[in-house]
Amino acid sequence: MKIVFIGPPGAGKGTQCKMLSGKLKIPHISTGEMLRNLGGDSAQMVHSRIDRGHFAPDDFMLPLMKDRLSQPDCESGYLLDGFPRTMLQAEAFDASLSAADHQLEHVVHLEVDPEELIARLAFRQRTGERLDDSAEFIRERFQIYAERTAPLLSFYREQGLVRDINGTQSAEEVFAEVLAATS
Ligand code: AP5
Ligand code: MG
Repeated sequence: MKIVFIGPPGAGKGTQCKMLSGKLKIPHISTGEMLRNLGGDSAQMVHSRIDRGHFAPDDFMLPLMKDRLSQPDCESGYLLDGFPRTMLQAEAFDASLSAADHQLEHVVHLEVDPEELIARLAFRQRTGERLDDSAEFIRERFQIYAERTAPLLSFYREQGLVRDINGTQSAEEVFAEVLAATS
């Protein structure tokens, strides 16, 4: 089972993936978490971008994900939270799946009212957990999502993979819809 989650910042991708990963017993792969926890030579370059809501470069993401998805825990499937995020990533991912004779089962699209998204991120901002939750970067994250990630929905719609979910409900209600759409 290979599922991609797509939705704007604060849509609940991480929340839903955690719940579904527990149920399906397949790994939840959050590229945002991977990048925030990154050490080594590239850490400064990556953090200086993502802490302001800017994407890590595609040519950094592709080998990182190739390596992650080849790990043994991915053999029976995975939930992707935050990848692919650009058309170039989606096309490269598609090509690598085809080359391995694998396929995606679902693309879960979490749709949430903009006011609700802002409220969720503003609430989380108070915890100081994420530098990119500061008010000056939130608007930019939405704009980058609209420009660079939302177009992936047409790409996956053409393949009949998109499951539109109303994400403006409680996490449990959203999860019930996610389960119904993916089982
Ligand atoms: P990432 O970590 O993926 O951030 P994001 O897309 O901005 O999304 P969030 O994690 O803020 O929200 P979410 O949809 O996961 O919602 P959550 O469950 O947390 O990426 C961070 C950055 O890394 C990117 O901006 C980019 O720079 C970089 N990056 C990542 N992948 C990349 C890639 N492939 N290429 C290049 N760069 C990449 O919920 C949000 C809040 O709402 C939480 O507080 C939660 O408790 C609450 N909540 C969740 N569901 C509900 C609900 N139903 N009702 C009420 N509250 C809820
Ligand atoms: Mg997240």
